[in-house]
Amino acid sequence: MKTIIEPFRIKMTEPIHMISRAERIQKLQEAHQNVFLLDAEYCPIDLLTDSGTGAMSTQQWAALMLGDESYAGSTSWKKFEATVKSITGIKHVFPTHQGRAAESLLALTRVKEGDVIPNNSHFDTTRANMLSVGATPLDLLTQRGLDPDDESPFKGNMDIEKLKQCINTYGASRIPFCMITVTNNTGGGQPVSMHNIKTVKQLLEGYGIPLVMDACRFAENAYFIHEREKGYRGKTLLAIAQEMFSYVDAATMSLKKDGLSNIGGFFVCHDDLWAEDFKNALILREGFPTYGGLAGRDLEVTAVGLMEALVYEYQVYRHATVEYLLKKLVARGIPVMKPGGGHAVFLDAARFMDHIPPSQYPGISLVNALYEEGGIRSVELGSVMFGHRDEHGVEHPSPLELVRLAFPRRVYTQSHFDYMIEVIKEVWQKRKSYGGYTIVKQPPLLRHFSCHFEKLSS
Ligand SMILES: Cc1ncc(COP(=O)(O)O)c(C=O)c1O
Repeated sequence: MKTIIEPFRIKMTEPIHMISRAERIQKLQEAHQNVFLLDAEYCPIDLLTDSGTGAMSTQQWAALMLGDESYAGSTSWKKFEATVKSITGIKHVFPTHQGRAAESLLALTRVKEGDVIPNNSHFDTTRANMLSVGATPLDLLTQRGLDPDDESPFKGNMDIEKLKQCINTYGASRIPFCMITVTNNTGGGQPVSMHNIKTVKQLLEGYGIPLVMDACRFAENAYFIHEREKGYRGKTLLAIAQEMFSYVDAATMSLKKDGLSNIGGFFVCHDDLWAEDFKNALILREGFPTYGGLAGRDLEVTAVGLMEALVYEYQVYRHATVEYLLKKLVARGIPVMKPGGGHAVFLDAARFMDHIPPSQYPGISLVNALYEEGGIRSVELGSVMFGHRDEHGVEHPSPLELVRLAFPRRVYTQSHFDYMIEVIKEVWQKRKSYGGYTIVKQPPLLRHFSCHFEKLSS
């Protein structure tokens, strides 16, 4: 059969409330034109993030009841540790309450002022955590990864030449580790090939620089390798994931993505000294090392979720939903990042809103138009999230102006997607009627979460 169906039935539902266009405009005004500040009840289609927003399976709900809430050495921890080790093959496992806690403790324990941390592309929290300890995060994505029209299969790859140059320029002593993010959320959810991970590792090994994987979407990346990289068709997603982890010295993970959970994260590493330092920092900030800020029931749920994310049929369905939306938008000439990402469709706001310069945030204009016209909450991954304003008040834009429509896992059905297509089409037709924005209030780091915008007259 050609039709790919959802590999699940729906057992529980959650109501969606539609509010009128006038009410949405009012709500956005009250939220200072920043969709992060909207109440979720006013967002009928919420594509803000795929992080922690998925639906749990019956197996996960059942596992929740097995949660052992003992402070130390619980049976839930044992299951969690065994599952993480079976996938990563990495010696030391530490739970954290979410991905950024793992990043923050990694930065606190291993990074010092003046260090440089290369990555294919840092996610916003990773970047902010490195900046917060005085290090410089560098994005070394290939040129192809920066071209929304380039249909290369692995646009998340690290540029090996740029990495060599970076090591030559700064010297290995200033690089405590290099990161690689799979899939590359910042650059359109694009995958990294096994060959690239292996080549990065080989290069770093020559300089004694450890490789740390940001593994949030490791299962989606494994699926792309299975589908697109020569020699992997006959392998299971688990075997592919195991090979990916075999090339790294450590990894940070947000279980809110491919842990199919609503909360959680972890840090894994081989090195005993790294582990000792991480453990001590964890106890101070997150909790005892066998729960690390999570309830026993969360450890149970994520142990099940990690394995469910590696079920091939689940990944086939998930990627079919991305392709469905992407193809319909491309057919209407709507500019998108190609090919489809693992967890989202990314609209190319620079071309969608080509009458708005980066200094007036075309991505924010598109995000707000989608909300006003159809109640779709999306997120800007452009000059607000990845650009910054310097001490002279000059804005430094991001190389890409994207708007991400992130797909919560196992949540929306095909009619929801058909509705989204209708809304996006409407905004596309009226695009010249939307104007730019200015920031009137912003915090020093991670400004997109809480800054206030004002509309500029169009
Ligand atoms: C690539 C990547 N790294 C790190 C994080 C941070 O994870 P968390 O939100 O669990 O702190 C995210 C979250 O979206 C992400 O996409």
